[in-house]
This record gives sequence, structure tokens and C-alpha cells, in this order.
Amino acid sequence: MPDTDNRGAGDRFFPSVAHRSQPFLLKGSSALDWGMQSRLAQIFRPSTGRTVMLAIDHGYFQGPTSGLERVDLSIVPLLPWADALMTTRGMVRSTIPPASRTPIVLRASGGPSVLRELSDEQIAVSMDDAARINASAVAVQVFIGGEFETQSVHNMTRLVDQGQRHGIPVLAVTAVGRELTRDARYLRLATRICAELGAHIVKTYHCDQDFDTVTAACPVPLVMAGGKKLPELDALTMAYRAIEEGAAGVDMGRNIFQSHDPAAMIRAVGAVVHEHTKPQAAYDHYVRPSPEHATREDG
Ligand code: R5P
Repeated sequence: MPDTDNRGAGDRFFPSVAHRSQPFLLKGSSALDWGMQSRLAQIFRPSTGRTVMLAIDHGYFQGPTSGLERVDLSIVPLLPWADALMTTRGMVRSTIPPASRTPIVLRASGGPSVLRELSDEQIAVSMDDAARINASAVAVQVFIGGEFETQSVHNMTRLVDQGQRHGIPVLAVTAVGRELTRDARYLRLATRICAELGAHIVKTYHCDQDFDTVTAACPVPLVMAGGKKLPELDALTMAYRAIEEGAAGVDMGRNIFQSHDPAAMIRAVGAVVHEHTKPQAAYDHYVRPSPEHATREDG
């Protein structure tokens, strides 16, 4: 018989204290199952509700991108500063140390290379394999307005169905074709469709005007995509604005790993996202090359 049956231990039952249930505070996620919430809490730091996701999945359609030629040398040392790593199962199994504490967001769509029509993607990973890898989420490209729009939406909805069974969230990446304008009107359309059809996280680009309407209209956490390499201060400013305007974090690749100092840059992004450090202060503290470094580079 368990010793706590002894009424003498009654003080430890606190019968007059109501059971404490902690609410799950991530936007739009309070009704999800425990496993799904647990995985989301691995990606979004519970202390801030935000994430700095490092995107290095570029190779799935464009091969060895500049800065990702040797992921073992350039990216693995950055893992301690990333709240999550967005990558492919090939890179996970070949290169990412299983002892890493950084959660994996697994690229789960693919097919065409940069030489073909990019929207013609299919699901590229089974949910069983995502579970085997211990992925904290899977990521799928959604091409609203693209040639294979319906197929890409269908990829996402099938992954959502499978993810619901396994407790694995789906990150929908809104891919914007060259012929489309990245304005708030388009981004509201694309992100809302992804959320309505079940995505648990949505990734999209920042826009100069009315980005706050994009985050407001999206009922689940929205993370800002990085895009092509910008000067570091500009990238930090974009991240700062996105957070101010309601983003739950960033999912940046080239603006981190193509920086002259990727370790400094990811820490600066972390300060902006989690500590609300102003972009100039984050740049000055982490990124600005020391006079000695600048002289060597100039010379
Ligand atoms: C595709 O569009 C992918 O998700 C990318 O490979 C990646 O996430 C892009 O990251 P960034 O634009 O910040 O380099």
C-alpha cells in the first residue's frame, strides 16, 4: 500500500488548493495536443514565446549554396545559438550531431531543382521518418499564386493530417514567385490560407508597409523569412521591425551564414528577437568588425 495513503501525510495533498494547470501561451496553439505543444515549446522559447530558427535547407533545390559548402564546419558551431535548425534529413543524418540540443525543423517537400519549375514540389519525407529523426516540426513550401499552387497546398494539408497523428507540427513556408509582389495584400492571402488549412507555424517575408496586418490576420505564430543577403544592420533592422509588428521570431539563413561573422550575427539576431535589443545596439555589440579586423580586411 503506498505510504501516501496514510492520512498523517495529509499536508502534502493540499486538498484545499485547486490543481494548477498552466495555459499554453503560443498564439493559436492552446487547443493542440500535449505532444504538439511540447514540440512547439522546443522551437519557441517558453520564456519569450519567440524563436531564432536557422535555415540551412537551401541545398534541397539549389545544391551547395555559398556558406553551406561544409555544414560540418560552418553551421555545426552555430547550433548552440539557434533555437531550431531548419534542414534536410540528408544533412541531419550525415552531419548534425545527434547529441545536439537544437530542435530540428525538417524540410519535408521537394522535387524540382533551380533548373525547373520550383512550385512543382511533392512531399519528400514520410511522417514516420520525421518521427524517427525526432523532428520538432516539418516544413513544406506553399506556392500561392504559383503554377502548382493546388499541389503544394495539398502537400501541406496531407502533412498536417499526418502530423496530427504523430503530434508533429507543420511549418508552412510561403514561397513568393518572381512574378508576384511581396506586399501585405499578397502575404495576408498566402499566410492566412496556410493557417486556415491547418499549418501550425507560418513562415513569410517581411514587407515595408502594413506587415502588422499580416501577423494580425494569421491566427498562428508567424516567423519572418530572411531572404537574400543584406548588410548586417539592415537585416537586424528588418528582424526588429518584424518582431515589433507581431512576428513570433525569425527563420533566417543567408543573412546569418553568409555574414562575415555568422556566430556574431546569430547572437545579434537572438538579442533582437529575445531581448528586444535595438538593431544598432545589437550590431555594435556583436557584429561590427573590430578596427583591427576592419584594417586587415581593407588591407
Ligand atoms: C526556401 O525557400 C527555403 O525555405 C530556404 O531554403 C530557406 O529557408 C531560405 O532562407 P533564407 O532566405 O533566409 O536564406
